Amino acid sequence: MPRKMVVIFGASNVLWMVFTVSQAFKMEIFPEHRVIAQIGDVISLTCRTTGCEPPSFSWRTQIDSPLNGKVKNEGNNSTLTMDPVSFNNEHAYVCTATCGSKKLEKGIQVEIYSFPKDPEIHLSGPLELGKPVTVTCMVPDVYPFDRLEVNLMKDNKLLKNKEFLEPMERKSLETKSLAVTFIPTNEDIGKALVCQAKLNIDEFDFEPKERETTKKLQVYISPKNTVISVSPSTKLQEGGSVTMTCSSEGLPAPQIFWSKKLDNGNVQLLSGNATLTLIAMRIEDSGIYVCEGVNQVGKDGKEVELIVQVAPRDTTILVSPSSILEEGSSVNMTCSSNGLPAPKILWSRQLNNGDLQPLSENSTLTLTSTKMDDSGIYVCEGINQAGISRKEVELIIQVAPKDIQLIAFPSESVKEGDTVIISCTCGNVPKTWIILKKKAETGDTVLKSRDGAYTIHKVQLEDAGVYECESKNEVGLQLRSLTLDVKGRENNKDYFSPELLVLYCASSLIIPAIGMIIYFARRANMKGSYSLVEAQKSKV
Ligand SMILES: *[C@@H]1O[C@H](CO)[C@@H](O)[C@H](O)[C@H]1NC(C)=O
Ligand SMILES: *[C@@H]1O[C@H](CO)[C@@H](O)[C@H](O)[C@H]1NC(C)=O
Ligand SMILES: *[C@@H]1O[C@H](CO)[C@@H](O)[C@H](O)[C@H]1NC(C)=O
Ligand SMILES: *[C@@H]1O[C@H](CO)[C@@H](O)[C@H](O)[C@H]1NC(C)=O
Ligand SMILES: *[C@@H]1O[C@H](CO)[C@@H](O)[C@H](O)[C@H]1NC(C)=O
Repeated sequence: MPRKMVVIFGASNVLWMVFTVSQAFKMEIFPEHRVIAQIGDVISLTCRTTGCEPPSFSWRTQIDSPLNGKVKNEGNNSTLTMDPVSFNNEHAYVCTATCGSKKLEKGIQVEIYSFPKDPEIHLSGPLELGKPVTVTCMVPDVYPFDRLEVNLMKDNKLLKNKEFLEPMERKSLETKSLAVTFIPTNEDIGKALVCQAKLNIDEFDFEPKERETTKKLQVYISPKNTVISVSPSTKLQEGGSVTMTCSSEGLPAPQIFWSKKLDNGNVQLLSGNATLTLIAMRIEDSGIYVCEGVNQVGKDGKEVELIVQVAPRDTTILVSPSSILEEGSSVNMTCSSNGLPAPKILWSRQLNNGDLQPLSENSTLTLTSTKMDDSGIYVCEGINQAGISRKEVELIIQVAPKDIQLIAFPSESVKEGDTVIISCTCGNVPKTWIILKKKAETGDTVLKSRDGAYTIHKVQLEDAGVYECESKNEVGLQLRSLTLDVKGRENNKDYFSPELLVLYCASSLIIPAIGMIIYFARRANMKGSYSLVEAQKSKV
Protein backbone atom coordinates (compact mmCIF):
# COMPACT_ATOMS: atom_id res chain seq x y z
CA MET A 1 0.00 0.00 0.00
CA PRO A 2 2.72 2.58 0.71
CA ARG A 3 3.95 2.02 -2.80
CA LYS A 4 0.54 2.89 -4.18
CA MET A 5 0.49 5.97 -2.03
CA VAL A 6 3.80 7.08 -3.51
CA VAL A 7 2.40 6.48 -6.91
CA ILE A 8 -0.60 8.64 -6.43
CA PHE A 9 1.25 11.34 -4.48
CA GLY A 10 0.83 14.65 -6.27
CA ALA A 11 -2.42 13.60 -8.04
CA SER A 12 -5.66 15.37 -7.35
CA ASN A 13 -7.69 14.99 -4.19
CA VAL A 14 -10.45 13.48 -6.20
CA LEU A 15 -8.15 10.72 -7.26
CA TRP A 16 -7.23 10.13 -3.60
CA MET A 17 -10.87 10.02 -2.63
CA VAL A 18 -11.61 7.52 -5.33
CA PHE A 19 -8.67 5.47 -4.22
CA THR A 20 -9.84 5.40 -0.64
CA VAL A 21 -13.42 4.69 -1.45
CA SER A 22 -12.23 1.92 -3.60
CA GLN A 23 -10.73 0.27 -0.47
CA ALA A 24 -13.07 -2.34 1.11
CA PHE A 25 -14.92 -1.41 4.29
CA LYS A 26 -13.88 -3.97 6.91
CA MET A 27 -14.32 -4.49 10.62
CA GLU A 28 -12.43 -6.43 13.24
CA ILE A 29 -13.38 -7.06 16.86
CA PHE A 30 -11.02 -7.77 19.74
CA PRO A 31 -10.92 -10.15 21.45
CA GLU A 32 -12.28 -12.43 18.81
CA HIS A 33 -15.52 -14.38 19.27
CA ARG A 34 -15.45 -14.76 23.02
CA VAL A 35 -13.72 -13.74 26.13
CA ILE A 36 -13.84 -14.63 29.83
CA ALA A 37 -13.44 -12.06 32.54
CA GLN A 38 -13.34 -12.27 36.29
CA ILE A 39 -15.93 -10.45 38.26
CA GLY A 40 -14.43 -7.23 39.55
CA ASP A 41 -11.83 -7.03 36.80
CA VAL A 42 -11.88 -4.61 33.86
CA ILE A 43 -12.24 -5.65 30.21
CA SER A 44 -12.56 -3.73 27.01
CA LEU A 45 -14.04 -4.88 23.70
CA THR A 46 -12.75 -3.04 20.68
CA CYS A 47 -14.29 -2.69 17.24
CA ARG A 48 -11.83 -1.51 14.57
CA THR A 49 -12.69 -0.65 11.09
CA THR A 50 -10.77 0.09 7.96
CA GLY A 51 -11.97 1.46 4.68
CA CYS A 52 -14.25 4.13 6.02
CA GLU A 53 -13.67 7.50 7.58
CA PRO A 54 -15.22 7.87 10.00
CA PRO A 55 -17.71 5.09 10.45
CA SER A 56 -20.48 5.26 13.05
CA PHE A 57 -20.50 2.60 15.76
CA SER A 58 -23.17 1.11 17.95
CA TRP A 59 -23.08 -1.64 20.59
CA ARG A 60 -25.88 -3.84 21.81
CA THR A 61 -26.42 -7.18 23.45
CA GLN A 62 -28.18 -9.92 21.66
CA ILE A 63 -31.14 -9.82 23.96
CA ASP A 64 -31.19 -6.03 24.12
CA SER A 65 -30.38 -5.76 27.82
CA PRO A 66 -28.27 -2.83 29.06
CA LEU A 67 -24.64 -2.82 27.96
CA ASN A 68 -23.29 -2.25 31.52
CA GLY A 69 -20.22 -0.67 30.06
CA LYS A 70 -18.92 2.56 28.60
CA VAL A 71 -18.51 3.10 24.89
CA LYS A 72 -15.76 5.29 23.54
CA ASN A 73 -15.55 6.01 19.83
CA GLU A 74 -12.20 7.18 18.52
CA GLY A 75 -12.12 7.56 14.74
CA ASN A 76 -11.83 4.11 13.29
CA ASN A 77 -12.15 2.50 16.68
CA SER A 78 -14.93 1.92 19.18
CA THR A 79 -14.24 0.56 22.66
CA LEU A 80 -16.75 -0.90 25.12
CA THR A 81 -15.22 -0.93 28.62
CA MET A 82 -16.71 -2.87 31.49
CA ASP A 83 -15.32 -1.63 34.82
CA PRO A 84 -15.87 -3.60 36.95
CA VAL A 85 -17.04 -6.77 35.28
CA SER A 86 -20.22 -8.06 36.86
CA PHE A 87 -22.83 -10.72 36.32
CA ASN A 88 -24.61 -8.18 34.08
CA ASN A 89 -21.82 -8.42 31.57
CA GLU A 90 -22.37 -12.06 30.81
CA HIS A 91 -23.79 -11.52 27.33
CA ALA A 92 -23.21 -11.86 23.65
CA TYR A 93 -22.19 -8.31 22.60
CA VAL A 94 -22.66 -7.08 19.02
CA CYS A 95 -20.73 -4.19 17.52
CA THR A 96 -22.25 -2.49 14.46
CA ALA A 97 -20.26 -0.09 12.22
CA THR A 98 -22.02 1.90 9.56
CA CYS A 99 -20.19 3.54 6.72
CA GLY A 100 -22.63 5.28 4.43
CA SER A 101 -24.95 2.61 3.22
CA LYS A 102 -22.64 -0.13 4.29
CA LYS A 103 -23.16 -1.78 7.62
CA LEU A 104 -20.93 -4.34 9.32
CA GLU A 105 -21.68 -6.34 12.48
CA LYS A 106 -19.59 -8.59 14.67
CA GLY A 107 -20.49 -10.37 17.88
CA ILE A 108 -18.45 -11.39 20.88
CA GLN A 109 -19.47 -13.66 23.78
CA VAL A 110 -18.45 -12.39 27.18
CA GLU A 111 -18.24 -15.08 29.87
CA ILE A 112 -17.56 -14.32 33.48
CA TYR A 113 -16.06 -16.25 36.41
CA SER A 114 -15.04 -15.69 40.00
CA PHE A 115 -12.20 -17.47 41.71
CA PRO A 116 -10.52 -14.70 43.62
CA LYS A 117 -9.05 -16.24 46.74
CA ASP A 118 -7.13 -19.25 47.95
CA PRO A 119 -9.15 -21.82 49.88
CA GLU A 120 -9.32 -21.47 53.64
CA ILE A 121 -8.74 -24.40 56.00
CA HIS A 122 -10.64 -24.35 59.25
CA LEU A 123 -10.48 -26.82 62.11
CA SER A 124 -13.37 -27.46 64.48
CA GLY A 125 -10.89 -27.10 67.33
CA PRO A 126 -7.27 -27.68 68.26
CA LEU A 127 -5.94 -30.98 67.03
CA GLU A 128 -5.69 -33.24 69.98
CA LEU A 129 -4.41 -36.75 69.86
CA GLY A 130 -7.31 -39.18 69.81
CA LYS A 131 -9.97 -36.52 69.65
CA PRO A 132 -12.01 -36.31 66.44
CA VAL A 133 -11.58 -33.05 64.61
CA THR A 134 -13.42 -31.74 61.57
CA VAL A 135 -11.37 -29.98 58.98
CA THR A 136 -13.25 -27.76 56.57
CA CYS A 137 -11.92 -26.41 53.32
CA MET A 138 -13.73 -23.30 52.19
CA VAL A 139 -13.49 -21.80 48.72
CA PRO A 140 -14.93 -18.31 48.81
CA ASP A 141 -16.83 -16.35 46.13
CA VAL A 142 -16.85 -18.93 43.39
CA TYR A 143 -18.64 -18.63 40.06
CA PRO A 144 -19.69 -20.75 38.28
CA PHE A 145 -19.51 -23.26 41.12
CA ASP A 146 -20.73 -26.13 38.97
CA ARG A 147 -17.20 -26.14 37.59
CA LEU A 148 -15.59 -26.28 41.04
CA GLU A 149 -13.70 -29.31 42.27
CA VAL A 150 -12.16 -29.46 45.75
CA ASN A 151 -9.62 -31.97 47.04
CA LEU A 152 -8.65 -32.25 50.68
CA MET A 153 -5.39 -34.09 51.34
CA LYS A 154 -3.45 -35.03 54.41
CA ASP A 155 0.18 -35.96 54.09
CA ASN A 156 -0.28 -36.16 50.28
CA LYS A 157 -3.10 -38.66 50.64
CA LEU A 158 -6.56 -37.75 49.48
CA LEU A 159 -9.05 -37.48 52.29
CA LYS A 160 -11.98 -36.30 50.21
CA ASN A 161 -12.80 -35.02 46.74
CA LYS A 162 -15.89 -33.18 45.62
CA GLU A 163 -17.25 -31.70 42.42
CA PHE A 164 -20.07 -29.24 42.94
CA LEU A 165 -22.20 -30.33 40.07
CA GLU A 166 -25.57 -29.28 41.36
CA PRO A 167 -27.45 -26.92 39.03
CA MET A 168 -27.08 -23.23 39.63
CA GLU A 169 -30.39 -21.60 40.27
CA ARG A 170 -29.22 -18.05 39.92
CA LYS A 171 -26.11 -16.13 39.22
CA SER A 172 -24.38 -15.48 42.50
CA LEU A 173 -21.03 -15.78 44.20
CA GLU A 174 -21.00 -18.73 46.48
CA THR A 175 -18.65 -20.07 49.07
CA LYS A 176 -18.32 -23.79 48.76
CA SER A 177 -16.80 -26.02 51.35
CA LEU A 178 -15.74 -29.57 51.97
CA ALA A 179 -15.53 -31.09 55.44
CA VAL A 180 -13.76 -34.21 56.71
CA THR A 181 -13.63 -35.57 60.23
CA PHE A 182 -10.62 -37.55 61.37
CA ILE A 183 -8.89 -38.59 64.56
CA PRO A 184 -5.37 -37.23 64.86
CA THR A 185 -2.67 -39.75 65.62
CA ASN A 186 0.97 -39.45 66.52
CA GLU A 187 1.83 -39.87 62.85
CA ASP A 188 -0.02 -36.71 62.02
CA ILE A 189 2.35 -34.57 64.07
CA GLY A 190 4.19 -32.28 61.69
CA LYS A 191 2.29 -33.41 58.60
CA ALA A 192 0.36 -31.07 56.33
CA LEU A 193 -3.25 -30.65 55.28
CA VAL A 194 -3.70 -29.41 51.74
CA CYS A 195 -6.89 -28.03 50.27
CA GLN A 196 -6.84 -27.79 46.50
CA ALA A 197 -9.60 -26.00 44.57
CA LYS A 198 -9.89 -26.19 40.80
CA LEU A 199 -12.20 -24.21 38.54
CA ASN A 200 -12.55 -26.54 35.60
CA ILE A 201 -13.18 -24.12 32.71
CA ASP A 202 -11.02 -25.66 30.03
CA GLU A 203 -12.35 -23.69 27.07
CA PHE A 204 -10.77 -20.47 28.31
CA ASP A 205 -7.34 -19.52 29.33
CA PHE A 206 -7.06 -17.62 32.56
CA GLU A 207 -4.90 -17.76 35.63
CA PRO A 208 -5.19 -19.22 38.13
CA LYS A 209 -7.47 -22.10 37.47
CA GLU A 210 -6.21 -23.87 40.56
CA ARG A 211 -5.65 -22.55 44.03
CA GLU A 212 -4.15 -24.39 46.99
CA THR A 213 -3.72 -23.81 50.71
CA THR A 214 -1.45 -25.81 53.00
CA LYS A 215 -1.80 -26.02 56.74
CA LYS A 216 0.73 -27.73 58.89
CA LEU A 217 -0.91 -30.03 61.42
CA GLN A 218 -0.30 -28.65 64.87
CA VAL A 219 -1.19 -31.57 67.06
CA TYR A 220 -1.85 -30.69 70.69
CA ILE A 221 -1.77 -32.91 73.72
CA SER A 222 -3.62 -31.69 76.74
CA PRO A 223 -1.42 -31.47 79.86
CA LYS A 224 -1.31 -34.67 81.86
CA ASN A 225 0.86 -36.56 84.36
CA THR A 226 1.51 -33.44 86.36
CA VAL A 227 3.98 -34.33 89.09
CA ILE A 228 5.28 -32.35 92.04
CA SER A 229 8.51 -33.07 93.84
CA VAL A 230 9.20 -31.45 97.18
CA SER A 231 12.59 -31.02 98.77
CA PRO A 232 13.36 -31.61 101.58
CA SER A 233 9.86 -32.37 102.86
CA THR A 234 6.29 -31.18 102.95
CA LYS A 235 6.72 -30.90 106.69
CA LEU A 236 8.82 -27.94 107.60
CA GLN A 237 10.24 -26.29 110.62
CA GLU A 238 9.25 -22.72 111.18
CA GLY A 239 11.76 -20.50 109.44
CA GLY A 240 12.80 -23.29 107.10
CA SER A 241 12.62 -23.31 103.34
CA VAL A 242 11.30 -25.67 100.71
CA THR A 243 11.75 -26.10 96.99
CA MET A 244 8.95 -27.57 94.93
CA THR A 245 9.36 -28.56 91.32
CA CYS A 246 6.46 -29.33 89.06
CA SER A 247 6.39 -31.00 85.69
CA SER A 248 3.59 -31.72 83.28
CA GLU A 249 3.45 -33.53 79.97
CA GLY A 250 1.72 -32.16 76.93
CA LEU A 251 2.12 -30.73 73.45
CA PRO A 252 3.13 -28.01 73.23
CA ALA A 253 4.99 -28.26 76.55
CA PRO A 254 2.62 -26.96 79.21
CA GLN A 255 3.47 -23.80 81.02
CA ILE A 256 3.63 -24.26 84.76
CA PHE A 257 1.83 -22.08 87.24
CA TRP A 258 2.14 -22.28 91.00
CA SER A 259 -0.53 -20.94 93.27
CA LYS A 260 -1.75 -21.28 96.82
CA LYS A 261 -5.30 -22.03 97.89
CA LEU A 262 -6.64 -19.34 100.13
CA ASP A 263 -9.11 -19.83 102.93
CA ASN A 264 -11.84 -18.06 101.02
CA GLY A 265 -11.59 -20.59 98.20
CA ASN A 266 -9.70 -18.34 95.82
CA VAL A 267 -6.21 -19.05 94.66
CA GLN A 268 -3.25 -16.75 94.80
CA LEU A 269 -0.86 -16.97 91.88
CA LEU A 270 2.71 -17.33 93.09
CA SER A 271 4.90 -18.07 90.12
CA GLY A 272 5.04 -18.97 86.47
CA ASN A 273 8.17 -20.99 87.02
CA ALA A 274 8.31 -24.74 87.32
CA THR A 275 10.43 -24.43 90.44
CA LEU A 276 9.02 -22.63 93.41
CA THR A 277 11.25 -21.92 96.39
CA LEU A 278 9.70 -20.70 99.60
CA ILE A 279 11.96 -19.40 102.32
CA ALA A 280 11.53 -18.33 105.94
CA MET A 281 8.32 -20.31 106.21
CA ARG A 282 5.88 -19.26 108.85
CA ILE A 283 2.95 -21.08 110.41
CA GLU A 284 0.50 -19.22 108.18
CA ASP A 285 2.37 -20.46 105.10
CA SER A 286 1.00 -23.91 105.81
CA GLY A 287 -1.63 -24.93 103.31
CA ILE A 288 -2.38 -26.39 99.93
CA TYR A 289 -0.18 -25.40 97.04
CA VAL A 290 -1.35 -26.08 93.50
CA CYS A 291 0.73 -26.65 90.41
CA GLU A 292 -1.01 -26.40 87.07
CA GLY A 293 0.33 -27.33 83.68
CA VAL A 294 -1.45 -25.28 81.02
CA ASN A 295 -1.35 -25.26 77.24
CA GLN A 296 -3.69 -24.29 74.41
CA VAL A 297 -5.89 -27.34 74.79
CA GLY A 298 -6.19 -27.85 78.49
CA LYS A 299 -4.71 -27.95 81.91
CA ASP A 300 -3.83 -30.49 84.56
CA GLY A 301 -3.32 -29.67 88.20
CA LYS A 302 -1.73 -31.30 91.19
CA GLU A 303 -1.85 -30.30 94.84
CA VAL A 304 0.57 -30.61 97.69
CA GLU A 305 0.05 -29.73 101.32
CA LEU A 306 2.82 -28.00 103.19
CA ILE A 307 2.81 -28.14 106.96
CA VAL A 308 4.96 -25.74 108.87
CA GLN A 309 5.72 -27.22 112.24
CA VAL A 310 7.31 -26.02 115.44
CA ALA A 311 9.28 -28.55 117.39
CA PRO A 312 7.96 -28.98 120.96
CA ARG A 313 9.61 -26.68 123.45
CA ASP A 314 9.03 -25.11 126.86
CA THR A 315 7.84 -28.38 128.33
CA THR A 316 6.85 -27.65 131.92
CA ILE A 317 5.60 -29.80 134.76
CA LEU A 318 3.35 -28.57 137.50
CA VAL A 319 3.17 -30.77 140.59
CA SER A 320 0.24 -30.33 142.93
CA PRO A 321 0.45 -30.19 145.88
CA SER A 322 4.19 -30.98 145.98
CA SER A 323 6.80 -33.37 144.72
CA ILE A 324 7.52 -34.46 148.29
CA LEU A 325 4.52 -36.24 149.70
CA GLU A 326 3.34 -38.22 152.62
CA GLU A 327 2.53 -41.79 151.89
CA GLY A 328 -1.13 -42.28 151.06
CA SER A 329 -1.71 -38.80 149.71
CA SER A 330 -2.54 -37.99 146.06
CA VAL A 331 -0.59 -35.97 143.58
CA ASN A 332 -1.42 -34.39 140.21
CA MET A 333 1.46 -33.86 137.83
CA THR A 334 0.43 -31.72 134.88
CA CYS A 335 2.65 -31.36 131.85
CA SER A 336 2.41 -28.85 129.04
CA SER A 337 4.49 -28.32 125.93
CA ASN A 338 4.36 -25.74 123.14
CA GLY A 339 4.72 -26.58 119.48
CA LEU A 340 2.94 -26.90 116.18
CA PRO A 341 1.18 -29.13 115.61
CA ALA A 342 0.31 -29.27 119.30
CA PRO A 343 2.66 -31.79 120.90
CA LYS A 344 1.29 -35.01 122.25
CA ILE A 345 2.09 -35.58 125.89
CA LEU A 346 3.62 -38.82 127.08
CA TRP A 347 4.18 -39.51 130.75
CA SER A 348 6.62 -42.23 131.71
CA ARG A 349 8.46 -43.44 134.72
CA GLN A 350 12.18 -43.84 134.62
CA LEU A 351 13.21 -47.30 135.71
CA ASN A 352 16.41 -48.07 137.58
CA ASN A 353 18.11 -49.15 134.36
CA GLY A 354 17.26 -45.80 132.77
CA ASP A 355 14.48 -47.16 130.54
CA LEU A 356 11.20 -45.35 130.39
CA GLN A 357 8.00 -47.13 131.25
CA PRO A 358 5.08 -45.37 129.53
CA LEU A 359 2.25 -44.47 131.88
CA SER A 360 -0.20 -42.10 130.27
CA GLU A 361 -0.87 -39.89 127.30
CA ASN A 362 -3.01 -37.54 129.37
CA SER A 363 -1.47 -34.23 130.24
CA THR A 364 -2.24 -34.80 133.92
CA LEU A 365 -0.82 -37.82 135.62
CA THR A 366 -2.65 -38.49 138.87
CA LEU A 367 -1.32 -40.81 141.54
CA THR A 368 -3.77 -41.59 144.31
CA SER A 369 -2.90 -43.27 147.59
CA THR A 370 0.80 -43.08 146.92
CA LYS A 371 3.21 -45.56 148.35
CA MET A 372 6.91 -45.26 148.98
CA ASP A 373 7.47 -47.40 145.90
CA ASP A 374 5.98 -44.62 143.81
CA SER A 375 9.02 -42.51 144.60
CA GLY A 376 11.21 -41.94 141.60
CA ILE A 377 11.73 -39.92 138.45
CA TYR A 378 8.75 -39.18 136.25
CA VAL A 379 9.36 -37.98 132.70
CA CYS A 380 7.05 -35.93 130.54
CA GLU A 381 7.71 -35.72 126.80
CA GLY A 382 6.04 -33.30 124.41
CA ILE A 383 6.13 -35.02 121.02
CA ASN A 384 5.21 -33.99 117.50
CA GLN A 385 6.55 -34.69 114.01
CA ALA A 386 9.13 -31.97 114.45
CA GLY A 387 10.68 -33.28 117.61
CA ILE A 388 10.56 -34.06 121.32
CA SER A 389 10.93 -31.85 124.35
CA ARG A 390 11.50 -33.59 127.67
CA LYS A 391 11.17 -32.61 131.29
CA GLU A 392 11.45 -34.66 134.44
CA VAL A 393 10.42 -34.42 138.03
CA GLU A 394 11.49 -36.44 141.05
CA LEU A 395 8.68 -37.59 143.25
CA ILE A 396 9.55 -38.40 146.86
CA ILE A 397 6.98 -40.29 148.90
CA GLN A 398 7.73 -40.24 152.57
CA VAL A 399 6.31 -41.88 155.66
CA ALA A 400 6.26 -40.34 159.12
CA PRO A 401 8.51 -42.39 161.38
CA LYS A 402 6.54 -44.50 163.86
CA ASP A 403 7.01 -47.43 166.25
CA ILE A 404 10.46 -46.23 167.22
CA GLN A 405 12.14 -48.40 169.87
CA LEU A 406 15.34 -47.81 171.80
CA ILE A 407 16.79 -50.57 173.92
CA ALA A 408 20.03 -51.29 175.73
CA PHE A 409 21.34 -54.86 175.66
CA PRO A 410 21.75 -56.79 177.84
CA SER A 411 20.28 -54.15 180.12
CA GLU A 412 20.03 -50.47 180.86
CA SER A 413 21.95 -51.17 184.05
CA VAL A 414 25.40 -52.67 183.56
CA LYS A 415 28.61 -53.03 185.36
CA GLU A 416 31.76 -51.26 184.50
CA GLY A 417 33.64 -53.26 181.88
CA ASP A 418 30.58 -54.92 180.42
CA THR A 419 29.72 -54.77 176.80
CA VAL A 420 26.52 -52.99 176.05
CA ILE A 421 24.63 -52.48 172.80
CA ILE A 422 22.29 -49.53 172.38
CA SER A 423 19.94 -50.21 169.49
CA CYS A 424 17.30 -48.07 167.85
CA THR A 425 14.75 -49.47 165.42
CA CYS A 426 12.00 -47.75 163.54
CA GLY A 427 9.43 -49.92 161.80
CA ASN A 428 8.83 -47.97 158.64
CA VAL A 429 11.81 -45.82 157.78
CA PRO A 430 15.21 -46.82 156.52
CA LYS A 431 17.74 -47.37 159.28
CA THR A 432 19.97 -44.77 157.70
CA TRP A 433 17.43 -42.17 158.73
CA ILE A 434 18.02 -42.90 162.38
CA ILE A 435 20.24 -40.67 164.49
CA LEU A 436 21.57 -41.91 167.83
CA LYS A 437 22.86 -39.34 170.28
CA LYS A 438 24.22 -39.13 173.78
CA LYS A 439 22.89 -36.20 175.64
CA ALA A 440 25.23 -34.06 177.72
CA GLU A 441 25.09 -30.69 179.34
CA THR A 442 27.95 -29.54 177.17
CA GLY A 443 26.12 -30.67 174.04
CA ASP A 444 24.82 -33.79 172.38
CA THR A 445 27.20 -36.25 170.81
CA VAL A 446 26.06 -38.02 167.68
CA LEU A 447 27.14 -41.60 167.93
CA LYS A 448 28.55 -43.58 165.05
CA SER A 449 25.84 -46.16 164.89
CA ARG A 450 25.61 -49.00 162.49
CA ASP A 451 22.10 -49.72 161.31
CA GLY A 452 20.79 -47.97 164.37
CA ALA A 453 23.00 -49.93 166.76
CA TYR A 454 25.88 -48.60 168.82
CA THR A 455 28.12 -50.98 170.71
CA ILE A 456 30.16 -49.98 173.76
CA HIS A 457 32.88 -52.47 174.64
CA LYS A 458 34.06 -52.34 178.20
CA VAL A 459 31.60 -49.82 179.37
CA GLN A 460 33.06 -47.06 181.55
CA LEU A 461 31.40 -45.20 184.30
CA GLU A 462 31.29 -42.11 182.15
CA ASP A 463 29.25 -43.98 179.52
CA ALA A 464 26.34 -43.74 181.87
CA GLY A 465 23.75 -41.15 180.94
CA VAL A 466 20.83 -40.39 178.63
CA TYR A 467 20.83 -41.86 175.15
CA GLU A 468 18.39 -40.55 172.56
CA CYS A 469 17.27 -41.93 169.24
CA GLU A 470 15.66 -39.70 166.68
CA SER A 471 13.96 -40.57 163.37
CA LYS A 472 12.96 -37.57 161.39
CA ASN A 473 11.90 -36.61 157.85
CA GLU A 474 9.80 -33.92 156.14
CA VAL A 475 6.62 -35.47 157.36
CA GLY A 476 7.37 -36.40 160.96
CA LEU A 477 9.68 -36.88 163.92
CA GLN A 478 9.91 -39.54 166.63
CA LEU A 479 12.17 -39.56 169.64
CA ARG A 480 13.00 -42.16 172.29
CA SER A 481 15.51 -42.02 175.11
CA LEU A 482 16.89 -44.26 177.82
CA THR A 483 19.22 -43.86 180.70
CA LEU A 484 22.20 -46.18 180.98
CA ASP A 485 23.35 -46.99 184.44
CA VAL A 486 26.94 -48.20 184.93
CA LYS A 487 28.03 -49.60 188.25
CA GLY A 488 31.62 -49.54 189.39
CA ARG A 489 33.20 -52.87 190.65
CA GLU A 490 35.00 -51.75 193.91
CA ASN A 491 33.58 -48.82 195.58
CA ASN A 492 30.02 -49.73 195.41
CA LYS A 493 28.72 -50.96 198.83
CA ASP A 494 26.05 -53.12 197.42
CA TYR A 495 28.76 -55.06 195.76
CA PHE A 496 29.77 -56.72 199.10
CA SER A 497 26.79 -58.83 199.78
CA PRO A 498 27.35 -61.73 202.28
CA GLU A 499 26.90 -64.35 199.65
CA LEU A 500 29.43 -62.73 197.37
CA LEU A 501 31.83 -62.38 200.29
CA VAL A 502 31.60 -66.10 201.07
CA LEU A 503 32.07 -66.83 197.40
CA TYR A 504 35.02 -64.54 197.26
CA CYS A 505 36.71 -66.15 200.34
CA ALA A 506 36.06 -69.60 199.06
CA SER A 507 37.61 -68.76 195.77
CA SER A 508 40.76 -67.43 197.61
CA LEU A 509 41.15 -70.89 199.21
CA ILE A 510 40.36 -72.84 196.13
CA ILE A 511 43.18 -71.38 194.12
CA PRO A 512 46.06 -72.72 196.50
CA ALA A 513 44.18 -76.05 196.81
CA ILE A 514 44.17 -76.43 193.04
CA GLY A 515 47.92 -75.75 193.09
CA MET A 516 48.49 -78.65 195.55
CA ILE A 517 46.41 -81.07 193.55
CA ILE A 518 48.52 -80.33 190.55
CA TYR A 519 51.73 -81.02 192.62
CA PHE A 520 50.53 -84.43 193.85
CA ALA A 521 49.31 -85.37 190.52
CA ARG A 522 52.72 -84.80 189.03
CA ARG A 523 54.39 -86.90 191.71
CA ALA A 524 51.88 -89.72 191.37
CA ASN A 525 52.57 -89.71 187.69
CA MET A 526 56.29 -90.29 188.36
CA LYS A 527 55.62 -93.29 190.71
CA GLY A 528 52.97 -94.73 188.60
CA SER A 529 50.51 -94.83 191.49
CA TYR A 530 48.79 -92.45 193.81
CA SER A 531 48.03 -92.88 197.51
CA LEU A 532 45.92 -90.41 199.35
CA VAL A 533 47.53 -91.56 202.57
CA GLU A 534 50.96 -90.75 201.29
CA ALA A 535 49.62 -87.50 200.14
CA GLN A 536 48.32 -86.77 203.63
CA LYS A 537 51.68 -87.67 205.03
CA SER A 538 53.68 -85.51 202.77
CA LYS A 539 51.34 -82.62 203.48
CA VAL A 540 51.80 -82.98 207.20
C1 LIG B 1 -8.77 5.20 9.72
O1 LIG B 1 -8.64 4.32 8.62
C2 LIG B 1 -8.22 4.92 7.43
C3 LIG B 1 -8.20 3.95 6.29
O2 LIG B 1 -8.30 2.68 6.67
C4 LIG B 1 -6.89 5.58 7.64
O3 LIG B 1 -6.52 6.20 6.52
C5 LIG B 1 -6.96 6.54 8.78
O4 LIG B 1 -5.73 7.07 9.05
C6 LIG B 1 -7.50 5.92 10.02
N1 LIG B 1 -7.63 6.85 11.03
C7 LIG B 1 -7.10 6.75 12.26
C8 LIG B 1 -7.41 7.84 13.20
O5 LIG B 1 -6.42 5.79 12.63
C1 LIG C 1 -7.56 2.00 16.93
O1 LIG C 1 -7.21 0.64 17.33
C2 LIG C 1 -5.88 0.25 17.01
C3 LIG C 1 -5.76 -1.16 17.37
O2 LIG C 1 -6.25 -1.42 18.60
C4 LIG C 1 -4.96 1.16 17.70
O3 LIG C 1 -3.64 0.81 17.42
C5 LIG C 1 -5.25 2.58 17.38
O4 LIG C 1 -4.44 3.46 18.11
C6 LIG C 1 -6.67 2.96 17.62
N1 LIG C 1 -6.96 4.31 17.16
C7 LIG C 1 -7.59 5.18 17.88
C8 LIG C 1 -7.81 6.51 17.26
O5 LIG C 1 -7.96 4.90 18.99
C1 LIG D 1 11.78 -17.98 86.74
O1 LIG D 1 13.09 -18.31 87.03
C2 LIG D 1 14.05 -17.55 86.34
C3 LIG D 1 15.41 -18.09 86.67
O2 LIG D 1 15.39 -19.02 87.65
C4 LIG D 1 13.89 -16.08 86.72
O3 LIG D 1 14.79 -15.31 85.99
C5 LIG D 1 12.50 -15.63 86.42
O4 LIG D 1 12.31 -14.33 86.89
C6 LIG D 1 11.50 -16.54 87.10
N1 LIG D 1 10.19 -16.17 86.68
C7 LIG D 1 9.20 -15.99 87.56
C8 LIG D 1 7.89 -15.66 86.98
O5 LIG D 1 9.36 -16.10 88.76
C1 LIG E 1 -6.05 -33.57 141.01
O1 LIG E 1 -6.93 -33.17 139.98
C2 LIG E 1 -8.26 -33.51 140.19
C3 LIG E 1 -9.02 -33.08 138.95
O2 LIG E 1 -8.62 -31.81 138.55
C4 LIG E 1 -8.78 -32.81 141.44
O3 LIG E 1 -10.10 -33.18 141.65
C5 LIG E 1 -7.92 -33.24 142.60
O4 LIG E 1 -8.30 -32.53 143.75
C6 LIG E 1 -6.48 -32.96 142.31
N1 LIG E 1 -5.66 -33.52 143.37
C7 LIG E 1 -4.66 -32.88 143.91
C8 LIG E 1 -3.91 -33.61 144.96
O5 LIG E 1 -4.34 -31.74 143.55
C1 LIG F 1 -6.97 -39.93 130.59
O1 LIG F 1 -8.04 -39.08 130.93
C2 LIG F 1 -9.31 -39.61 130.69
C3 LIG F 1 -10.35 -38.58 131.01
O2 LIG F 1 -9.79 -37.44 131.57
C4 LIG F 1 -9.50 -40.88 131.50
O3 LIG F 1 -10.74 -41.44 131.21
C5 LIG F 1 -8.42 -41.87 131.16
O4 LIG F 1 -8.50 -42.98 131.97
C6 LIG F 1 -7.06 -41.23 131.36
N1 LIG F 1 -6.05 -42.16 130.87
C7 LIG F 1 -4.97 -42.46 131.60
C8 LIG F 1 -4.03 -43.42 131.00
O5 LIG F 1 -4.75 -41.93 132.68
